[in-house]
Amino acid sequence: MEGHIYVSRTLTPKAMKLLDNLDYEVRVGGDEPPSREKLLEDVAGAAGAIVMLSEKIDEEFFDAAGPGLEVVANLAVGYDNIDLHEAKHRAVIVTNTPGVLTEATADLTFALLLATTRRVVESDYYARSGKPWIWGPNEYVGLDISAGATLGIYGLGRIGLAVARRAQAFGMRTIGYARHLVPGQELDGVHIVEPDELLQYSDVLTLHTPLTDETRHLIDAAAIAKMKKGAYIINAGRGGLIDELAMVDALKSGQLAGAGLDVFEGEPVIRPELRELPNVVVTPHIGSAGDKTREVMSKLCIDNVVSVLDGKAPLTQVPYP
Ligand code: GLV
Ligand code: GLV
Repeated sequence: MEGHIYVSRTLTPKAMKLLDNLDYEVRVGGDEPPSREKLLEDVAGAAGAIVMLSEKIDEEFFDAAGPGLEVVANLAVGYDNIDLHEAKHRAVIVTNTPGVLTEATADLTFALLLATTRRVVESDYYARSGKPWIWGPNEYVGLDISAGATLGIYGLGRIGLAVARRAQAFGMRTIGYARHLVPGQELDGVHIVEPDELLQYSDVLTLHTPLTDETRHLIDAAAIAKMKKGAYIINAGRGGLIDELAMVDALKSGQLAGAGLDVFEGEPVIRPELRELPNVVVTPHIGSAGDKTREVMSKLCIDNVVSVLDGKAPLTQVPYP
């Protein structure tokens, strides 16, 4: 068999064992993210590659890999890091990990929602500071989500609907928008509305739509101005969905009461304002970081690559544009 399988980062322990047992030569980048130079060097001559969402898979990457590259498996459901036009042009199959991280990502989304609305992190900071405190009627008061607060869900794919189930179990009203759904309909207890209504009626807005040219800065100053004063934004989708500077302004002015963010525009850089504002909870893109989830994601990537290299169909191919 010509060409190795390049894996840009050490996968989970079980997945590393699977890689060891393959009939293909496997080259693993290491525990740390590879420099761009090293990535391009190590992918040269590869037949398959398992890559991370933090890596740009573009013309330069495909050039470096060479014409033997048959498949790129992204260890993520999102694939905005991959130039699909270029992949199509070169007939390289691209795969992602849909379905297997739905619950883990919805859990993290809900963790951010609760942490943000009930000021868990802000009060944790205070409690552990050692400063004096005493129970008080007005201390760390946040939003009662269970008293019928409305959750607006932008994007009702698997993850958006899994978040809806959690919200409904907590007593929230759920409304949502998705391009493929007609306003006025109900889907799994989610009342479908127009985008402007979603902004207008949400006490908490959560984003679960892929990042594309159309959805970039979906939440900008104009959108935030249409939201209820004192609403919250949760984002465990992609950072680019939000104009962060506009959000920072709104978090400072009180137009937004808080934000829970797992993803950022300039990842892995988190804007200092977002790190400093007390009404913001930030996590370093850990949406899918469940122990079992990461095993299944890793295995799915390996299975995709091996299927293609064995001449079979990939399991979860991303459709070409
Ligand atoms: C994570 O962000 C993913 O797309 O899987
Ligand atoms: C994830 O699996 C999604 O498509 O929402």
